[in-house]
Amino acid sequence: MGKRIEWLDDAVFYEIYPQSFKDTDGDGIGNIRGITDSLDYIRDLGCNAIWLNPCFESPFGDAGYDVSDYYKVAPRYGSNEDLAELFSKAHEKGMHVLLDLVPGHTSWDHPWFRESQKAERNEYTDRYIWTDSIWESPEGYASLRGISDRDGSCLTNFFTHQPALNYGFYKPDRPWQQAMDSEGPMATRNEIKKIMSFWLSKGCDGFRVDMAGSLVKNDPESKGTIALWQDIRGFLDKEFPDAVLISEWGEPDKSIEAGFHMDFLLHFGPSHYNDLFRCDAPFFCGKGDASEFIKRYLESRRKADGRGYICIPSGNHDMDRLAKYVRGDKAKMAFAFLLSMPGAPYIYYGDEIGMRYVEGLTSVEGGYNRTGSRSPMQWNGGTNAGFSDGEAGSLYIPIDPDENRPTVEKQAADEGSLLNEVKKLIAIRMSHPALMNPGEIEFLADGAPGKPLVYVRSCEGERILVVLNPTETDQELDDVRLKELLYVLGEKPESTDDKLTIKRNSAFFAVL
Ligand code: NOJ
Repeated sequence: MGKRIEWLDDAVFYEIYPQSFKDTDGDGIGNIRGITDSLDYIRDLGCNAIWLNPCFESPFGDAGYDVSDYYKVAPRYGSNEDLAELFSKAHEKGMHVLLDLVPGHTSWDHPWFRESQKAERNEYTDRYIWTDSIWESPEGYASLRGISDRDGSCLTNFFTHQPALNYGFYKPDRPWQQAMDSEGPMATRNEIKKIMSFWLSKGCDGFRVDMAGSLVKNDPESKGTIALWQDIRGFLDKEFPDAVLISEWGEPDKSIEAGFHMDFLLHFGPSHYNDLFRCDAPFFCGKGDASEFIKRYLESRRKADGRGYICIPSGNHDMDRLAKYVRGDKAKMAFAFLLSMPGAPYIYYGDEIGMRYVEGLTSVEGGYNRTGSRSPMQWNGGTNAGFSDGEAGSLYIPIDPDENRPTVEKQAADEGSLLNEVKKLIAIRMSHPALMNPGEIEFLADGAPGKPLVYVRSCEGERILVVLNPTETDQELDDVRLKELLYVLGEKPESTDDKLTIKRNSAFFAVL
């Protein structure tokens, strides 16, 4: 890992999907200016850092995760100058901004790929991974075949239109598989360093890295990919030591060794994240089971060994909205959890007001089922919920049609709203080191069926008990003495000399 970055200790992130946040020019698509104009809203919520989804030139077959020019902001979002202005305005307000780096693949419209498809050798022949005959497909991977005069199949990473960039093979075992340190893979690696330098020089604070764990191929233990990132981290340590990295990897032991400061706890793979928030019986709805999640979380924490953060998001642009499953007081309790866990919290835009998953939408820009979680931010009761002055039909994705849809305006005026609860929770987190990102955690109850989730956060002598009881029954805790209640949702706990009664459907934080 790079040097210790102090601002990460109390960082609370806000994820912005730029298409859908705020449109200032009436074209129906959000833009950078809209984000800059909304910094006070984000700051006032209590978030002091932003993760911005890809905003670079792209044909938008995967909402911008299919880049066609890494050095240029997509014109629909504004200019490179607008982005640099966002960085400097954010810094003036004590905030930081991470861009989304997509190093694993480009769009098939990228000029590198057009060159790479040519039969004649050129600078980009080895920028992507090609077999040396159209009749051979790369085993275990999807590929593009028969698309140009070049005799070979080209390996793809995610959608068909996203050819994989070539970082080499950990153990090449076919003639067309190149070693990590051969010329083509090294040129790709250097280009990625150049892209990072370009944006860091313009003032960004670091990157969320897309599919960070899968760059080197035939690398079952990720040793090659770890070495690759260690090299990139080494480069950053010399040139941009303050650059922050968070990975979409979901294996903190590997990502942190690779040099990332933080890793996301993912909603797929072994984490059991969905048990808490997104399944038929989520824990926070009172009838679920958090114990497997806690078990996996503790395993990951043990492996990360305090060297970096495991970050639990409220949602993101790839999963159903939290509000599809968890609403009302249950949503408040879910946020009480998210904002009292170690690691930096990540709030997906609109989750703080309980924006709904919009059902029944036709896919937009490769969103498919994800489209319903990407609808425009609901600011107020004005035209297009205050998102854009454009024609309703021109909007990137239609606004949630529910006339009772939540808005920032309504919730700001309602003391009991989710928005005000989230603000309160962030403020409590910010004023107690035990609740901040580096603080320790010890579980007293793991949310097994019918049971609450109870843990103690601590840091340098401060100990805070967190109790989350979404069940329909009162619960008892022995030998716990509370000094001061910091936060209560629902009914207050009752204490006698040796017993604490936690009320059904309630949550609280208390100093021990
Ligand atoms: C993960 C991103 O979060 C997702 O939106 C994207 O489609 C894939 N990676 C491919 O880049």
